[in-house]
Amino acid sequence: MEAILLVGGRGTRLRPLTINTPKPMLPVAGVPFTAHQLAQAHDAGVDRVILGTSYRAEVFEQYFGAGERLGLDLVYRTEDEPLGTGGGIRHAAQALRSGPEDPVLVFNGDVLSGLDIPALLQAHEDTDADVSLYLTRVADPRAFGLVPTSDDGAVIEFREKPTTPEEIVTDQINAGCYVFKRRVIDEIPTGRPVSVERETFPGLLERGRRLTGFVDDGYWLDLGTPLSFVQGSADLVLGEVRSSAVPGPPGERLLLADARVADSAVVGGGTVVGARSTVGADAVLNASVIMDGVEIGPGATITGSVIATGAVIGAGATLTGCVVAEGARVGVDNELIDGARVWPEVSIPDHAIRFSSDR
Ligand code: GTP
Repeated sequence: MEAILLVGGRGTRLRPLTINTPKPMLPVAGVPFTAHQLAQAHDAGVDRVILGTSYRAEVFEQYFGAGERLGLDLVYRTEDEPLGTGGGIRHAAQALRSGPEDPVLVFNGDVLSGLDIPALLQAHEDTDADVSLYLTRVADPRAFGLVPTSDDGAVIEFREKPTTPEEIVTDQINAGCYVFKRRVIDEIPTGRPVSVERETFPGLLERGRRLTGFVDDGYWLDLGTPLSFVQGSADLVLGEVRSSAVPGPPGERLLLADARVADSAVVGGGTVVGARSTVGADAVLNASVIMDGVEIGPGATITGSVIATGAVIGAGATLTGCVVAEGARVGVDNELIDGARVWPEVSIPDHAIRFSSDR
């Protein structure tokens, strides 16, 4: 069984974390996010994966090599200019060995899910679809691509990011994983950017192809924003969603090699403390991602935040819903709140920022 994993995006919504590291290589529950997706694919019977890379392509091969550690045969197909989601699938497909009628799994590289992959493959075979799409239901579908289906699961139309209430015709959205018949991938044009959501799928429908929706109401999260990124990591650590790549049993916290946490510190809510990081006395860490070599001072309070490699958080600082990039320093007693992003190597002096309670 072969799969294509799309990992070539720029991850702009996660800047500045993605300035040096491509989004799928950011650590989630202790390992790069791509490691979870590869483990899930392997556990579902996939044995060969083509990674469609573009932005910072070299980082993937440096980490995963030919895939021996994962029990997978990994192949890299790099786009010199990003070709978009559809163009990326087409470009990667040149390395496939599957025959024209064989099923090929395609994954977006930023979706964390509990999808029953074998059930999706079975549905694809049962309905003899040209493409089967994994769909999930969300309360507010405005930021997504809607995919209404008929009673027998046939896709009726594709509607990208609806704005008016009339346009919200369903709560089913494209969840970022598909099964294609290989010959259908070969129909995508080469040599230019193509969006699979906006061009390929609507075009296939127009040409009368059989597209089937497979609704799975299990865990689903798009890790594209800092808020969902920390949530995904915490859920993996807590065991809300399973991945055999998490380096430890499910629990309140995950401490990586040589992490040092003071006895009086409270670390929970699915927080990861990275390798060689230190957490000072009385610090309180909740649902956060602390990467490697980070120093957290005594009495600091960090909630729902990402602290990147080598950053320093001063004593008594309070961070809620923030991103602190590599090598940055937040001085003592600062208070940073929702959405604050500190750029790499920036240093915020001690006692520089506080939010008044009457804002
Ligand atoms: P944002 O810039 O924050 O929207 O993130 P992104 O660049 O990752 O874009 P998006 O979330 O829409 O991408 C969905 C998936 O497709 C991700 O796994 C991306 O890595 C991948 N992707 C997006 N564009 C390309 C591309 O041009 N080539 C390849 N190979 N993959 C892509």
